[in-house]
Amino acid sequence: MTQTSHSYLNKILIVGSGGREHALAWKMAQSERVRKVFVAPGNGGTALDSRMTNIAITDPEQLAEFVKKEGISLTVVGPEAPLAAGIVNIFRREGLKIFGPTREAAQLESSKDFAKSFMQRHKIPTARYQTFTDANAAHEYVRKEGAPIVIKADGLAAGKGVVVAMAEDEAHAAIDMMLSDNKLGDAGARVVIEEFLEGEEASFIVLVDGKNILALATSQDHKRLKDNDLGPNTGGMGAYSPAPVVTPEIHARIMREIITPTVQNMAKDGIPYTGFLYAGVMIDATGTPKTLEFNCRMGDPETQPIMARLRTDLLTIMNHAVNGTLDQIELQWDRRTALGVVMAAANYPDTPRSGDVITGIAPETSDCITFHAGTTLKDGKLTTSGGRVLCVVGLADTMKMVQKLTYEAVDRIHFDGAQFRRDIGWRALKQHHD
Ligand code: AMP
Ligand code: GLY
Repeated sequence: MTQTSHSYLNKILIVGSGGREHALAWKMAQSERVRKVFVAPGNGGTALDSRMTNIAITDPEQLAEFVKKEGISLTVVGPEAPLAAGIVNIFRREGLKIFGPTREAAQLESSKDFAKSFMQRHKIPTARYQTFTDANAAHEYVRKEGAPIVIKADGLAAGKGVVVAMAEDEAHAAIDMMLSDNKLGDAGARVVIEEFLEGEEASFIVLVDGKNILALATSQDHKRLKDNDLGPNTGGMGAYSPAPVVTPEIHARIMREIITPTVQNMAKDGIPYTGFLYAGVMIDATGTPKTLEFNCRMGDPETQPIMARLRTDLLTIMNHAVNGTLDQIELQWDRRTALGVVMAAANYPDTPRSGDVITGIAPETSDCITFHAGTTLKDGKLTTSGGRVLCVVGLADTMKMVQKLTYEAVDRIHFDGAQFRRDIGWRALKQHHD
């Protein structure tokens, strides 16, 4: 190239408004070949960054119009809802480049029954299960199987669709809630009941271009609200990368036994998978991984520490991903451990309170970045506007060091009612033989 003219620089669109999308936009904005990152609809953090522009559009058809009008060269989708609604199908129909699965491929997340029968058909390791629409039959199955047992709504239920029942009566209550009382609507009109798996969970996230697979760095999150993994399930209260539980041997097994057969058989079944593919895996005491679930997107908050460690240019990676050439690229990672601590609003996860003023966020440094999620910037004032508000990510050579520096940054941030865990990363500190 003889000169860097503005017209050679790319405009990118990131769809979503959470910490995951802020982290993707942040990494994308670092590319020398990116001029502007639009975020739809974005949050207070993406509003504060001069390299980013929030746009108040969420409808996929209108987003496609915006992309054409602005000359945006590539779109990356964060959350599952627009994917399940077919945003990739719409963009492709319009000839627009977008990274994500089609509506059909997104069924790996949007229908647990689809995912389970796919895994069963192709002998991909997962918990034993049966699917029910009739409450009586479901109750009968629980009586036969006993507890612990896991009840899952078939459809997308914003984190409320899985009940890990340690006692039989909890399982019966969950069946009544979903099948008899219709509390989750259509999403819960069909339920998957599956065997309880024991072990340690990890998040295994890869990029797929239809055929080639490129694994991201390993990660693990903390789903419970309170320290020591107590309290209600949440979207995730913190995450870190790498995850020591995923040894090189277990990594190879997950690729060989879960990820590769999934990608190959989706293509064989006529539904080629493109996009991020996230397998939640349970690793038992013998090191055997089983699939807990698939997500058709990156994890939140896993994305935040993963992006903090990524050294390779994200636009280059995404171009390979949409062009079907992921086999031609290798990823470079910061060797340090990245730890992300989520700060959530008062009353999260039930009815998070909005409108609390946020102060004390330190400017980004080479070892600490604060990604925003439920924040709004108005008249120069930053307030809370969602369940998970911030994710503070630190980088350091060891878990102990990164915990110290990340929590120092967390302790300088204030908003009324802030909830966060003090023990993010604890699993990485302990030995893994128990
Ligand atoms: P899911 O949305 O399917 O990932 O389920 C949410 C959480 O429930 C998972 O992250 C696990 O902690 C737990 N879970 C799901 N399925 C099982 C299972 N078969 N055995 C034990 N725990 C499970
Ligand atoms: N952190 C779990 C998820 O994104 O589903």
